[in-house]
Amino acid sequence: MPMITPSVLITSILNPNMRIFDIVMRTEYGTSYNSYAVLGSEKVALIDSSHLKFLEPYLQNVEKALGKRTPDYLVMNHNEPDHSGTVAALLERYPSLTIIASQAGAIYLKNITNRADLNIMKVHDGDEVSLGDKTLRFINAPFLHWPDSMFTYIPEEKILFTCDFLGAHYCEPQLFDTCVSYREAYANSVKEYYDAIFHPFAPYVLKGLEKLEGLEVSWCAPSHGPILTDTCEYEHNRERYRKWATPLKRTRRRIPVFYVSAYGNTERLATHVARGILAALPDAEVTCYDLNQHDFAVLASALNDSDAFLVGSPTINRDALPPVFNLLAAIDAVTIAKRPVALFGSYGWSGEALPHLAERLTSLKCAVFGPQLKVCFTPSAADLVAAEELGRSFATSLL
Ligand code: FEO
Repeated sequence: MPMITPSVLITSILNPNMRIFDIVMRTEYGTSYNSYAVLGSEKVALIDSSHLKFLEPYLQNVEKALGKRTPDYLVMNHNEPDHSGTVAALLERYPSLTIIASQAGAIYLKNITNRADLNIMKVHDGDEVSLGDKTLRFINAPFLHWPDSMFTYIPEEKILFTCDFLGAHYCEPQLFDTCVSYREAYANSVKEYYDAIFHPFAPYVLKGLEKLEGLEVSWCAPSHGPILTDTCEYEHNRERYRKWATPLKRTRRRIPVFYVSAYGNTERLATHVARGILAALPDAEVTCYDLNQHDFAVLASALNDSDAFLVGSPTINRDALPPVFNLLAAIDAVTIAKRPVALFGSYGWSGEALPHLAERLTSLKCAVFGPQLKVCFTPSAADLVAAEELGRSFATSLL
């Protein structure tokens, strides 16, 4: 049975073939659903659970880890279904199990299992539960990755369980960071994972890292990817998170202009809008992005890191075009609120693209600048002046 120490066994499920996680995340290197069993001298705790798809192998791993013992506790550090999918089945197998979760976690679990009678012990920051010769200490860690998240620390073993935090969608047969064969691939997966999961919660990442300061950790056991050791990736990953979560000090406003253009009409508007922005804010970083000419990750990053942005779309079949909606789908809705945005585009018949985009952006709580600039077919000299004026007035509104 794989183990961190003789008292802390690994009940994880490896899924090296997974290529898309939660519908949208690319997982080029697979993933793992990590979980653990802590065998105390008096009591036994399971730490985190697994995806329902892997119920049978997970239950087998748990049985193997427990031997003849029965678990007393199930600690749910975070309750997204990749970790909580097997909770209902675990309870059927071990009906006397007490679930340990945060206040928010307790609410989620009732809806995840559809059981109102769950035996849940709600814990708060600093609470402890004794397993005899081992202690479970809980550390509140909200929004890492959901409001329910917490860490669990075993001081006697110096093992920290962080669920999603500091993890990676990365899978190799060996379970520890010291055994990773493809270091660069692992580092890439840590970054992609951070961007997809924690980027919107950067202030909470910094708070979480602060809580780990001074904590003696020999192993950090996340719920995805290799277990981190103090001499290998634990410190690296904390440093990486610190760097990525720390806000960049920028002196220049970043105002990207995104567009698509079939016949060059919307593109010409984009160029003149950009000119208008620079007339009002000569120091601004203004980049025009043809959505068909750039990697999607670059576009998403430019949008989410902007101070304000503009979107230009023609109208085809009474709507904006798919690349534009793809871009809006990449908006980080947690951090985009009140972000100023302006819209422009050429059309042939009726020009519904812009009102549709405005509706979508308003529902995301962006501050949509008005009026939008709609131009019928080829922009005239007056239309190009109007585009420049849109850029100028939008930029001025940011002052
Ligand atoms: Fe791995 Fe947020 O769940």
